[in-house]
Amino acid sequence: MKKITLQTEIEVFENLFELPKKDALLMQAALKSMESAYAPYSNFKVGAALLLDNGEIVSGNNQENAAYPSGLCAERVAIFYAGAKYPNQKILKMAIAASSDSKPTHVPVPPCGACRQSVLEYETKQKQKIEILFMGKEGSVAKAAGMIDLLPLGFDSTFLS
Ligand code: THU
Repeated sequence: MKKITLQTEIEVFENLFELPKKDALLMQAALKSMESAYAPYSNFKVGAALLLDNGEIVSGNNQENAAYPSGLCAERVAIFYAGAKYPNQKILKMAIAASSDSKPTHVPVPPCGACRQSVLEYETKQKQKIEILFMGKEGSVAKAAGMIDLLPLGFDSTFLS
């Protein structure tokens, strides 16, 4: 028997202003997109913004549905749109901002498991990590070097061949 230790390093910035300029601009796009989320059932709004290799920023937000499971998270709305519209552009970064409507969230909100899996697919596709930044409505910002760092032992297409 041997033990394997999995380690993840996450940078935590005190606030938006401590971030490198490019990251702060991307997070601002996520915060803006969060405002337009369609979340009448949970009242929890999430915005995601992606920076592509060509400099383009693609954003999306959570879209809920009266048949609850038919809705989709912000991260997947954004990354599926990027995959559909810019299939050959590498995705460099993803910024995520999330907050409850009733009580503004002050801590970084990490992406759900399904979104981690979905984003990991694009890291595998482009053979390059996607930096993941996440925060609440305000306060500190967390940054991981890639989605694989938030989904260790992830399942990807390399197992299928
Ligand atoms: N949500 C996201 O958009 N991203 C996540 O990573 C977690 C949850 C959305 C789904 C739902 O509309 C609301 O937040 C509450 O779960």
